[in-house]
Amino acid sequence: MSDFKVFVTREMPAAALDRLSEHCQMEVWDAFLPPDYDVILKKMGDLSGLLCLLTDRIDARLMDAAPNLKVISNMAVGYDNIDVAAANERRIPVGNTPGVLTETTADFAFALLMAVARRIPEGRQYVQDGKWLTWHPTVLSGQDVFGATLGIIGSGRIGAAVARRAQGFNMRILVNSLESEEDIRQLGGEKVSLDQLLVESDFVSLHVPLTDETHHLISERELALMKPTSILINTARGSVLDPKALYAALKNGQILAAGLDVTDPEPIPLDDPLLSLDNCLVVPHIASASVATRAKMAEMAVDNVIAGLLGEPLPTCVNPEVFDGA
Ligand code: GLV
Repeated sequence: MSDFKVFVTREMPAAALDRLSEHCQMEVWDAFLPPDYDVILKKMGDLSGLLCLLTDRIDARLMDAAPNLKVISNMAVGYDNIDVAAANERRIPVGNTPGVLTETTADFAFALLMAVARRIPEGRQYVQDGKWLTWHPTVLSGQDVFGATLGIIGSGRIGAAVARRAQGFNMRILVNSLESEEDIRQLGGEKVSLDQLLVESDFVSLHVPLTDETHHLISERELALMKPTSILINTARGSVLDPKALYAALKNGQILAAGLDVTDPEPIPLDDPLLSLDNCLVVPHIASASVATRAKMAEMAVDNVIAGLLGEPLPTCVNPEVFDGA
């Protein structure tokens, strides 16, 4: 048995953890809720590796408490929960799980878009409330998706995958950046300014990482540019959207509806005003949650831990510069 100690902050698909346990002394936090910050802090002194989730805040203080830490591996593509600058200063590699969740997340963004546009959750509620008394010409009429204009904010891998789905619905696709290896222009997308995208789109879907620049990227001014019939979808990170401005825009009919897989904060408190709105569908950060994809994410996260323990470059590393001159 190796001397490396690794803390895994939650249960995850078993095959990946079985493999990790062959390389280290592994401790898995088996409660449903995440460990408190102080719990992680106490463990850091002994750790060579940390396998964490997006619910764990990993900052400089934790890193300083771990003199032997060789790797931080996040089981997520997003890594805004980790202070990567602090990891760089301490030459600790940070891993994430890009690629494997692209199509699953794009499926979900599109599912959310369709569900809100065609009012599927409201339809279910209507039936359960015993209101389905007859077929009616206007009841629960929604917005057409086919042929509509979709604005994709952030055209990385997931944005491009959403654009591919939109092509099948004969949508006009607007993007405000072209970052993808698979240039969205090849998928029929037009590059426009953020403002033009907001003004012209029937649906706006967010696919940017959370950074200082994207925090509250969509706020009062941006929502005011959108059509009163438009629908906003967020599967990125909650604070890319200003929740107070969103509430006002939904309440005042400035936009028609929203579908949120992510909120700020998470979980959303039950008394959050957004939950009081019929035109806001909130689901609990599940866009990458297919059985197959979560298993692949766990495998990737474990591959990153094992590589880090062995002092090898991580297969998917967000700060590969820490290996420069190593
Ligand atoms: C989920 O939100 C992820 O970043 O993987």
